[in-house]
Amino acid sequence: FAPRHFLSIADLTPAELVTLVRSAKTHKTNIKKGLVPKKVQESLNGKTVAMMFNKRSTRTRVSTEAAVVTMGGHPMFLGKDDIQLGVNESLYDTSVVISSMTSCMVVRAGEHSEVADLAKHSSVPVINALTNDYHPLQTIADFLTIHETFPPTSSVKDSLTNPSLGLEGLKIAWIGDSNNVLFDLAIASVKLGVDISVASPKGFTIPPRMKEIILASAKGVSNPGKLTETSVPEEAIKDADILVTDTWVSMGQEEEYKKRLEAFAGYQITNDLAKRGGAKEGWKFMHCLPRHPEEVADEVFYSPRSLVFPEAENRLYAAIAAIEAFVVNKGKIVE
Ligand code: CP
Ligand code: NVA
Repeated sequence: FAPRHFLSIADLTPAELVTLVRSAKTHKTNIKKGLVPKKVQESLNGKTVAMMFNKRSTRTRVSTEAAVVTMGGHPMFLGKDDIQLGVNESLYDTSVVISSMTSCMVVRAGEHSEVADLAKHSSVPVINALTNDYHPLQTIADFLTIHETFPPTSSVKDSLTNPSLGLEGLKIAWIGDSNNVLFDLAIASVKLGVDISVASPKGFTIPPRMKEIILASAKGVSNPGKLTETSVPEEAIKDADILVTDTWVSMGQEEEYKKRLEAFAGYQITNDLAKRGGAKEGWKFMHCLPRHPEEVADEVFYSPRSLVFPEAENRLYAAIAAIEAFVVNKGKIVE
């Protein structure tokens, strides 16, 4: 019996994505009221979740550990100097051994193939905690944040056959590097009918293989979001409801710091850029964090337009929803 893994938003049907966001919202409401149902509190009783992280993390680590504790389980953090993850032992051996003693592996690695390899040989669900290609837990939190902030924009009725968060027609402008956070965000946007316009400088655009995956996410969606690309930030920003960015130098790219800062000159999100680009009047700002001032000015990051701290908090509820769906409910994602 092969477990179901959560490696990318591409693994979810639109209905499952909607359900996970809704479930995260329900957990948030309950936790805020101090009313976590006993069923949730005991859902991981006696279970260990291995957290194998070979890169630094604040939000993903804290939210996953807190989620597992909220659900009555034991989070076991295994950093890169603690275990033989891809060093001194094959991923096959690591995966077979760790999955024989735990109920889930939450893994942060570099190459996506490392996490995919672990998943292939694991007898328990693997949840991607960030690879060079994807960051699905971030995307669940991001769409919870968007769902909380934007009232339904469309007349598309939510139904079992056509599940919808009512965000159709909303426009996201991603200004900056085409990276892991963008890829899952774009896949989700297409599935949820949200348009996403990406402005990246030459040499930092979406790789063709990833573009194919993003566009393929429209399959079977009656109202898919549109993906557009440009190298001019102002073009992407036109009529956008949400401006999003991430670091220009992801973990593992530190040696390219200077080259990247030069390439991204003019891409910093400022009030002036938003105005010149013609963002919608009530535009909001999002960022997965950690943040560096070069990609967004303080005037935006710390302004009332900024959703970054609720977005970070929402990582907790996203983690609970994902662990519940993939570990407790064994990959069955239904409301
Ligand atoms: N957004 C996010 O994943 O942050 P961390 O790298 O701190 O976990
Ligand atoms: N793009 C960033 C995201 C960190 C959460 C990185 O990969 O370092």
